[in-house]
Amino acid sequence: MTVNAAADPRQLWDAVDRFFVSTLHTPDETLEAALARSAEAGLPPINVAPNQGKLLHLLARLQGARRILEVGTLGGYSTIWLARALPAGGTVVTLEVDPRHAEVAAENLVRAGVAESVDIRVGRGVDTMTELVESRAEPFDLIFIDADKPSNPDYFRLALQLSRPGTLVVVDNVVRGGAVADADSDNPDVVGVRRLAELAAAEPRVTGTAVQTVGSKGYDGFALFLVD
Ligand code: SAH
Ligand code: DHB
Ligand code: MG
Repeated sequence: MTVNAAADPRQLWDAVDRFFVSTLHTPDETLEAALARSAEAGLPPINVAPNQGKLLHLLARLQGARRILEVGTLGGYSTIWLARALPAGGTVVTLEVDPRHAEVAAENLVRAGVAESVDIRVGRGVDTMTELVESRAEPFDLIFIDADKPSNPDYFRLALQLSRPGTLVVVDNVVRGGAVADADSDNPDVVGVRRLAELAAAEPRVTGTAVQTVGSKGYDGFALFLVD
């Protein structure tokens, strides 16, 4: 297949994703079915792309993560990728504000055979994270922040309280088509990401960077922070 990159770069990004996913990923009916059921239930298609899900899975394995925290469950697509990286006895705690999303995710996790290792908590992420801090939850090895973007500074601060030296914090959607570069933006999503980056820069316990990505989910990016 040839694509006209100049006319529509998205077609080219899609074609490249299709090449790598069809080459490097084993076809996975469970993950596809989770997306199909999420769509049927009317959830927005804002899950991570397959290769982004697998990147999260690889990061979790590199971390040897036994305890993973996710903020923003949606239909559980990224949750399945993360749960599959766990050793026996490991746990994903995933936080979701919308009870309907949590319900769809719970069904998808059962069908994926990972429900036993996932704890879905319904509520505002700031509240459920605060509850984890107050209950002195054991620190997490990997924290994936992927919920409402204006709360990113709060999620980042709380994530540090739920971390130990060596915890990896991954934040999705930090580029949003390049909007993050606009220092004068009054878009609350952009302000949330910029404040998170400023907080991270001012935090001596944290070493991090961000990478821009293109692909089937458009032009966006991840930030990664290692807690020292
Ligand atoms: N991680 C998912 C996508 C998450 S989309 C995946 O890649 O498959 C973002 C999710 O965050 C949505 O389900 C949305 O309902 C949820 N969300 C929005 N505001 C929230 C809040 N304040 N607290 C917790 N979750 C929130
Ligand atoms: C959108 C994408 C995401 O990955 C997300 O977590 C939230 C929103 C979006 O494209 O609107
Ligand atoms: Mg996201």
